Amino acid sequence: MRTYSYINEVKAFLHSQKELKRTIGFVPTMGALHQGHISLIEKAKRENDICVCSIFVNPIQFNNPEDFKRYPMQVDKDKEILVQYGCDVLFNPGTHEMYPEPVTEKFDFGSLEMVMEGKFRPGHFNGVAVVVKKLFQIIEPDKAYFGEKDYQQLLIISALVEKENFPIQIIPCPIIRDFDGLALSSRNALLSGQERKLAPEIARVLKECSLLAGQLSIPELKSYVQTKIGEIAEFKLDYFEIADGNTLQSLNSWSESKNIRAFIAVYIDKVRLIDNIRIFL
Ligand code: PAJ
Repeated sequence: MRTYSYINEVKAFLHSQKELKRTIGFVPTMGALHQGHISLIEKAKRENDICVCSIFVNPIQFNNPEDFKRYPMQVDKDKEILVQYGCDVLFNPGTHEMYPEPVTEKFDFGSLEMVMEGKFRPGHFNGVAVVVKKLFQIIEPDKAYFGEKDYQQLLIISALVEKENFPIQIIPCPIIRDFDGLALSSRNALLSGQERKLAPEIARVLKECSLLAGQLSIPELKSYVQTKIGEIAEFKLDYFEIADGNTLQSLNSWSESKNIRAFIAVYIDKVRLIDNIRIFL
């Protein structure tokens, strides 16, 4: 695997590959890699000549400085994982390389960023959009892979590509879960043993929602989830929403959309976990 920390070097190598008409699949990450990331890398490898992964813990997308300080970092282990799964290129820049000047760029994603993660983590999606735009300009991939685990991010990135007219295909990838249903996340590593045992309840509640949908009205389902999550002392519900999977606008009744998803964000002590599920009536 070729590893680059500098923009001009990774660009030079990828330009040489483009001249050979090789297609590039790109997986942006913040490292602490797990099977969720690996599923994106495997798909990128299958669908392109060259698979590029980036690892950059992007400071400007953390609305909470403590969350940034705590974020797990394990670059040496990540490199071993990437080699094992056949990633061709790792781009692992430092903060100064990505942001030599203070960032001032502001995006407007309208109603897409007013809800859920956008509402509860002010500035988060602007930071994501700034870094992903920059990464797209550096890597110039044919396809870029994003997990449905961060569903709202996936929609924001699709909107970014449209806004900027990037000739990049965004490939959504399904959520990879642990044996007990917990959605894999780099932040799971921050949970204590006891918290890790409680965490799958989040996915269980979502699964239950998909079974109860139609039997209960949306307001009834919302109060059911609030009660269920409230029963666990270690949990604090940030939000639970039933929303349209294209616009992310909140739904009041099941008949308002054909693409319905349930979204949840829960704090377990200081660790904030998110998950979502498609609901079929
Ligand atoms: P990170 O949280 O490292 O995630 C990188 C990619 O892996 C994202 O597209 C995310 O949705 C996907 N992913 C994470 N857990 C997953 C799971 N359990 N199943 C499937 N896919 C999963 O998302 C980011 O980094 C950053 O915001 C980034 C886009 C890199 C910009 O900094």
